[in-house]
Amino acid sequence: MNHAIDSITDGTTYRTGNPEATWRHMRAHAPVHWHEPGLFPGFWSLTRYDEVKAVLRDAETFSSASGILLRPLAQGEDPGSDRTLALSAPARHSALRGAIAQWFAPRNLRLLGEHLDGVAKAVVGDALAAGHVDFVTDVAAGLPVEVVCAFLDIPVADRPDIVAWTTDAFCAGSAEERSLAHLQILDYFGELAEERRARPGDDLVSVLARVRFQGALLPMEDVVLNCDNLLVGGTENVRLAMSGGMLALLEHPAQWAALREDFAHTAPTAVDEILRWTSSATHVMRRATRDVVLGGRQVRAGDRVVCWLASANRDAAHFPDPDTFDVRRTPNRHLALGAGPHYCVGTQLAKLEITAVLREFFTQVGEVAPAGTPERLESIVVNGLRSLPLHLTPRTG
Ligand code: HEM
Repeated sequence: MNHAIDSITDGTTYRTGNPEATWRHMRAHAPVHWHEPGLFPGFWSLTRYDEVKAVLRDAETFSSASGILLRPLAQGEDPGSDRTLALSAPARHSALRGAIAQWFAPRNLRLLGEHLDGVAKAVVGDALAAGHVDFVTDVAAGLPVEVVCAFLDIPVADRPDIVAWTTDAFCAGSAEERSLAHLQILDYFGELAEERRARPGDDLVSVLARVRFQGALLPMEDVVLNCDNLLVGGTENVRLAMSGGMLALLEHPAQWAALREDFAHTAPTAVDEILRWTSSATHVMRRATRDVVLGGRQVRAGDRVVCWLASANRDAAHFPDPDTFDVRRTPNRHLALGAGPHYCVGTQLAKLEITAVLREFFTQVGEVAPAGTPERLESIVVNGLRSLPLHLTPRTG
């Protein structure tokens, strides 16, 4: 069975295999499992809800500072280590989070609401006019990129480039194309951050360019990496949750009908269920800062601990009938957005975006029919669809 356990570190498992079956086995028989070094450094896998949540809540014992994703040994340390919000130890994390959190506060999101609804309307309208679409790139990608561009005040003329680069960074066929697109994003933010440090405006790049930690401005490279993280984290996850949610609704017609019938009441629980079901951030990683016992196993200071969020979200101890997609599920304390001090800063924004697109979909679209086979991404980091071809017909009457 060890061979099957190791399959969770193989990207092809997520494209064509069945990670759920392996996680189910691990939750029952090996909830805190040590993986020997190989392609990856040695690490612990946590698959149950309780251990995952305990680790995420304890940032002193389980540090994010040297990286939150499991990387092949050959790639070395994460370049964002000790630089970005997500990859910061507690003191630096508080300073950075304090500086940007106001942008994600309810008041700011309310102001954004109308713009967001307008963009959702246009995106769904354009898709309907086309008729035949890839929901992932033609619908789910548009709104989150637009919103992050608005927060970063990216000039409107540059936004088509940003949309194209983010799409290529996630969906391009080859690894070379994906990393080229990512380099273009970093170059772009390099220039923008310099400009905003010299002439600050009312936007998140300017906030990051002027934030101080221990009396000094952040190095420009840190500003760029933080902008990149906001763009990447804030667009890719929403895109995956939206498109995985659309597929789940199509595959469960009774759930689709329940949501459509009473959208206003059902949308909040439906969005949480979509987040749980899709668990687009497959895992997050921590490094133990001291010796500690987890689930009866001895974890040593320095060990890597991988929290499989997608597995924790199917743990029957916390979710009755975990493999049932239920848009009215409540309570639903899923971990798709993390937990503890690094809990996703974009949580409310992500929920608003998913709600806005679903609302427009139910308002404008009548019939939805598959127009090809959905394809999944080959990744151990992000979980979800690479493409979802659909044929859309306008709603009548
Ligand atoms: C469906 C949508 C989303 C999902 C599933 C998601 C998932 C997550 C998760 C699991 C974490 C915790 C990482 C950890 O514990 O190491 C996180 C953190 C973060 N997310 Fe999200 N996210 C989403 C949307 C967004 C959006 C819309 C933004 C911003 C535009 C965003 C920005 C961030 C940032 C900056 C962090 C780091 C927070 C910190 O370390 O304090 N995310 N996200």
